[in-house]
Amino acid sequence: MSETALGQAQKTVEAETKRRRTFAIIAHPDAGKTTLTEKLLLYGGAIQLAGAVKARKNRKAATSDWMEMEKEKGISITSAALQFEYKGHVLNLLDTPGHEDFSEDTYRTLIAADTAVMVLDAGKGVEPQTIKLFKVCRDRGIPIVTFVNKMDRPTKTLFSLLDEIENVLGITAIPMVWPIGTGVDFSGVYNRLDKKIYTYDKTPGGSSKSAFQSSGVDDPSLDSMFEDWVLKSFREEIELVEGGIGDFSLEAFLESKITPVFFGSAVNNFGIQLFLDHFLQIAPPPLYFPLDHGGKLDPVRTGFSGFVFKVQANMNKAHRDRIAFLRVCSGKFERGLTVNHGRLGKQVKLSSSFAFFGQDRNTVDEAFPGDIIGLVNPGTFAIGDILSSGKVPDLKPLPVFAPEIFGTLSCTETGSLKSFRKGIEQLAEEGILHLFSSQVIGGGLPVIGAMGQLQFEVFRRRLLDEYGAPTNINILPYQVSCWLPEEDVPKVPTGSNLVQDSLKRSALLFESEWEKGYFQKKNPEIRLLDYPTQEIQSDEIE
Ligand code: G4P
Repeated sequence: MSETALGQAQKTVEAETKRRRTFAIIAHPDAGKTTLTEKLLLYGGAIQLAGAVKARKNRKAATSDWMEMEKEKGISITSAALQFEYKGHVLNLLDTPGHEDFSEDTYRTLIAADTAVMVLDAGKGVEPQTIKLFKVCRDRGIPIVTFVNKMDRPTKTLFSLLDEIENVLGITAIPMVWPIGTGVDFSGVYNRLDKKIYTYDKTPGGSSKSAFQSSGVDDPSLDSMFEDWVLKSFREEIELVEGGIGDFSLEAFLESKITPVFFGSAVNNFGIQLFLDHFLQIAPPPLYFPLDHGGKLDPVRTGFSGFVFKVQANMNKAHRDRIAFLRVCSGKFERGLTVNHGRLGKQVKLSSSFAFFGQDRNTVDEAFPGDIIGLVNPGTFAIGDILSSGKVPDLKPLPVFAPEIFGTLSCTETGSLKSFRKGIEQLAEEGILHLFSSQVIGGGLPVIGAMGQLQFEVFRRRLLDEYGAPTNINILPYQVSCWLPEEDVPKVPTGSNLVQDSLKRSALLFESEWEKGYFQKKNPEIRLLDYPTQEIQSDEIE
């Protein structure tokens, strides 16, 4: 490529990168994540959706049994990515499962995001699942925007909500807008930045047609717009806000020191557009991606690179194929590109790249940093794999958690053994649980490990639905596991509960933390790791 052509290509990548925002919504189940997603799509008019769409209507249309289970339990097990355009921006929304048992999958999805939107139920505040997800974002340095939902319902007092965010999550909450009334009195929001008032009409559709430009909270025109007592409390509250709460600082937000807070009602489509407009201004474009040993990857001046954060089997029964979801980190992706596959150390041609809309799929010909593409995966791609058109960058690795619940798995029908083997291999590849083999425990049966019981249930249902294999799971007494560096494996005393996962990484299982501590005391030369990767191991030694 000539120098001018190269410069031109980089300019395109730069412009496309700058207009992208890649984000995930985190919430405790029932806070309104699905509803907010649907409303956001209304503003964009979804152009592409990837993965299992969780819009309620589609949920109802989903036929497979484990999707039924999703409905029964009111949770979303699969995570999806969807793309939409709004006011010249391209938004990539990564949908994250909202149940704690699926934390591993959720964690990995969050890592593919540049910003997180934390949805809180105004009546419930900060709930357990939110805390867990919040911590992942914080550890990873992902800035967080807060949307306080269900303002049309009885709420906690607003100041106690802000205090809760600060005390429980340890991040300063800066309201960008302030509600006028709450619950049955909810009448609108005031934008602190430009002093515009958005009135809430309690009619279907909710949102006010146009904003009223006030001269400030004391503007006499407001007297006729709101009930006396609502306006009086609003004026008192805003005085406290302006006097006692600091201003928004972009720098502090990008460093996860503060979270800007918005208020609204997703189901009534109120406060969403205001939120979205602010969001586009403050959420960072996918400009840099963290490298493992410090530093950041420049998305514009580096050729194409990306990492696989999710693998999903049987997205569509008609196709019966597996899809690997890749987040583009740098450069331009073009269909047909030949890339270096970091883990396998070989070249792979990416000829089938897709975006999904429910069960339909569209070919993706090009993609830019921040975008998510689905690649047909004949077993070539595993979670965490890095692909690159040039030298494979050492992107910060995805966290791999040590499972806390274990069981042996057996197929109860000999006629289904072949599909059973295929099923466990493919589903383990999705990362929904860990599949181990062991010479010591399990009596020759595969050993499975997960973060929670529900993962086991889903695994069983899917083996039956998608592979026709009925199974039995026998829970084992282990509750603690840790990974071992390969060079320490020969030092492990005989009789220890040594297991190996499908990527040949070794782990030790213990019945309790106490037992693990005892083992470590007896065998101080063996390093017990929280993560299986070599890179993290060397960091720990330093
Ligand atoms: P989730 O994905 O976080 O689990 O929550 P989801 O959007 O499914 O919302 C959970 C429930 O809360 C839904 O009611 C939804 O309609 C309701 N909801 C969402 N936003 C608001 C809001 O701003 N105000 C009020 N009052 N309710 C809200 P549901 O009865 O469980 O389901 P549906 O029958 O309405 O679909």
